[in-house]
Amino acid sequence: MAEHMNLTERAEDMRGFFERKADGYDDVHFAFMETKRLLTEYLRDGTSRILDLGGGTGLELIPLFERFPDARVTVVDLSPAMLGALMKRPFADRVTAVCGDFFEVDFGMNFDAVISTSALHHFEPEDKRVLYRKVYDCLAPGGLFLNADKISVNRQAEADAFAYYRTHRDNPDCAHIDTPLAPSTEAEILENAGFARIEVRLTDRDNYRLFLAEK
Ligand SMILES: C[S@@+](CC[C@H](N)C(=O)[O-])C[C@H]1O[C@@H](n2cnc3c(N)ncnc32)[C@H](O)[C@@H]1O
Repeated sequence: MAEHMNLTERAEDMRGFFERKADGYDDVHFAFMETKRLLTEYLRDGTSRILDLGGGTGLELIPLFERFPDARVTVVDLSPAMLGALMKRPFADRVTAVCGDFFEVDFGMNFDAVISTSALHHFEPEDKRVLYRKVYDCLAPGGLFLNADKISVNRQAEADAFAYYRTHRDNPDCAHIDTPLAPSTEAEILENAGFARIEVRLTDRDNYRLFLAEK
């Protein structure tokens, strides 16, 4: 119960952070489009039903809709302001925005792919176990989970990040402390969730990896 309370508080901090950042978000994050393009390249031809976790203003959907103009994408995100910006994009007619916490909302079923960019590096390993099982369950057989996200270089760096977070989390100036997992932790959680063919790919950024997993 206590764990869940912490998660909810963290989700509220996160929502507040992105409500404040939504206005200038694209100006800063256009610099990171290369990683999002890379993720799109790994989707299979014919992909049409996609779930995007933490899609925000929808930057990763720009290259995605260039390659899959007829795709239908469900975006789950905590922040009404980020989703408001997303729904002004030219492809908004093919997007369903769901405003809520990954751990609370119903994802639906039978997606060809679940994608996420820069949105899953704030969770404890035990919460990710729950989340990745939920991702597994909402994919069609053979479906792909592609997550491009920040990493800790190894398990010691991961432990250090969580130690720093625990020391500073009550400081209002530190509402958004990153706690990325090491690639080996991510891979182990994906495997335990039931995924096969797990791959960890380098990206254009040293502190990012692209995790690919197949149901
Ligand atoms: C850094 S932004 C990434 C946005 C977009 N994917 C991109 O790459 O530009 C992270 C997004 O994840 C959302 N987010 C973080 N934690 C969440 C949670 N627990 N449930 C739903 N959305 C969450 C935030 O609201 C934010 O829009």
